[in-house]
Amino acid sequence: MPDSPRFLMCPPDCYQVDYVINVWMEGNVDRSSRERAAEQWRGLHAVLQAHAEVELVPPAQGWPDMVFTANAGLVLGKTAIVSRFFHPERQGEEPHFKDWFEQAGFTVHELPEDLPFEGAGDALLDREGRWLWAGYGPRSELDSHPFLARWLGIEVLSLRLVDKRFYHLDTCFCPLAGGYLLYYPAAFDAYSNGLIERRVPAAKRFAVPEPDAVSFVCNAVNVGRKLIVNQAGEATRAWLGTAGFEVIETPLTEFMKAGGAAKCLTLRLDEAERADTRAIAAVESREVRLEGHLLDSGLLDRALDLIVDGAGSFQILEFNLGKQRQSTSDARLKVSAPSAEALERIMGQLIVLGAAGADGVGERGPRLEAVIQAGVAPADFSVTTIYPTEVKTARGWTRVEGQRMDGVIVVGSDGRAECRLIRDLQVGEQVVTGVDGIRLPRKTESREAAAEPGGAAADEFGFMGAGVSSERRVELVVEQIAWELRRIRDQGGKVVVVAGPVVIHTGGGAHLAGLIREGYVHVLLGGNAVAVHDMEQNILGTSLGMDMQRGVSVHGGHRHHLKVINTVRAHGGIAQTVAAGDLHGGVMYECVRRGVPFSLAGSIRDDGPLPDTVMDLLQAQADYARLIRGADMILMLSSMLHSIGVGNMTPAGVKLVCVDINPAVVTKLADRGSVESVGVVTDVGLFLSLLVAQLARLNGVHAAV
Ligand code: ARG
Repeated sequence: MPDSPRFLMCPPDCYQVDYVINVWMEGNVDRSSRERAAEQWRGLHAVLQAHAEVELVPPAQGWPDMVFTANAGLVLGKTAIVSRFFHPERQGEEPHFKDWFEQAGFTVHELPEDLPFEGAGDALLDREGRWLWAGYGPRSELDSHPFLARWLGIEVLSLRLVDKRFYHLDTCFCPLAGGYLLYYPAAFDAYSNGLIERRVPAAKRFAVPEPDAVSFVCNAVNVGRKLIVNQAGEATRAWLGTAGFEVIETPLTEFMKAGGAAKCLTLRLDEAERADTRAIAAVESREVRLEGHLLDSGLLDRALDLIVDGAGSFQILEFNLGKQRQSTSDARLKVSAPSAEALERIMGQLIVLGAAGADGVGERGPRLEAVIQAGVAPADFSVTTIYPTEVKTARGWTRVEGQRMDGVIVVGSDGRAECRLIRDLQVGEQVVTGVDGIRLPRKTESREAAAEPGGAAADEFGFMGAGVSSERRVELVVEQIAWELRRIRDQGGKVVVVAGPVVIHTGGGAHLAGLIREGYVHVLLGGNAVAVHDMEQNILGTSLGMDMQRGVSVHGGHRHHLKVINTVRAHGGIAQTVAAGDLHGGVMYECVRRGVPFSLAGSIRDDGPLPDTVMDLLQAQADYARLIRGADMILMLSSMLHSIGVGNMTPAGVKLVCVDINPAVVTKLADRGSVESVGVVTDVGLFLSLLVAQLARLNGVHAAV
């Protein structure tokens, strides 16, 4: 039969599970029965022979996985790309398969050394020949895909494998005649699933249930309308039947112990080329340079993780390791991603780690796009972080002014660069888009800073180390904060306190008032509630109707806070209430007395509100931003929303202390990816009392010296 399909198989004479290179092999070393394997292989061979011509490659002693000829290479027309195995355990198969391809008359291509690609195990032609699906991740490298496109003159669609059990594309993906597809979606990342869904209409693809997937139903050999598999479950069979396929089961359990089944044991040799295909690979690459304590601070680790998590892949082109503890290293990496957008996303994150493009593209300056609608940024805007940032403008590398997170960068005609909120953009302003021409010069992080609890991120301030402290650490942390507060005060620095009403409920009001009185606090930020409850306590002795001395609710106390609001409204504001002699103590009183500026940002659930509460949120954000400017330290005391708001406006370098009884809140606030923030999980009233006591002790010591 001249044009019957042709397959390559390899007799299992040397087959055994000799080592573990995939999860299926775990616990199966030496556990495969040679006789049963031979019998099952003959079974598959016989079924296949009934529908196709089968050629054999002689097995080689010492290479037990050679039976899996799907991994010999990839064939299209008269071209064969011979595999480069990921694991040394299989690399010895390469010359045997190469010889076979050459003797069979194929034009053989070999990938660069160290660029793994495992043949038809990871590259499956659309059965209509329109394109090639190529897997990457566990075994094959993304960077091999452009070679496949070029050598085979076909479009390559890269799919990322994310489930250890499905380490080759052919274990979870099976293109069928007529444009049908059998696959297990959970084996792929979201981007790959999107790609599959765009190429194969829903009616033509079947997502196999997990039990079928793990019995390798996708590892099927498709010849015309026949499908040869190890085993197929009810639902998959039914779908295949409707699509017009006949299922032929042949048991291959001995080979599943090595992680393979029907498709793995065969290689289709007569893949026909189409005249209308073109070499296309969406894979994009860039070179970047990283400098610093790459190994001991974990920076390189983080960069590589981020690349892989972003569906990309990397090659380390150069690495110069610093020899001494203080010396830094530098590396040049090639970063690849399955699409231009994916690469841009990865580059954006690498830049935050301090990486710089090493291919000169960034040196040309950023891509600027004009604002065409006020308050709306160009679609591809780059978003700012808390870290000092520079852009390449007419003035050279220029520091962005007003650094904060979640803004965009506007470059003026004079070459100055400024951080701006999207809502404040004016028509015609030039906004930085993409990732080129931006850099974040980070001071090199020492191994000591990196070793601080939770202090994984690079930054310049070794303040206490980021992280959430346990109860036992609270006192230690308080000592450091007290020392820092006193230093800032004595140097004429600036401390901002963001406080929630819990400060008052937990009895911390008097302590906070004391700190203000002693000159430790220079700005107070909060909402309506903290001020209301503070004044309720100082005017009526209750907090939300609870007697603060005895801890019991007071008869009729539920209206106390409204009484206070009413009184303040009558006076026209907090300062006027103090002036009228109706407020004699507490947090708000001390602010007024000491001239400490405060801003109360309103919210939907506010009672009253107080005349001082700013109900226009844009105005409130602007007030906060103005008051925060120049802060050395910000104490966030049991307030979540107001603190998050403050965090967003604060550049790196300002020391943040977040205190809350709820660890989730503390983690959220302290986790700014920088070492200068610290979280304290404790009762805020207790924290403030410890802080005040520690300051008193410090001052006592100081006075005595
Ligand atoms: N033990 C072999 C390996 O892990 C099994 C290969 C299965 N082949 C395949 N095309 N999925 O490499």
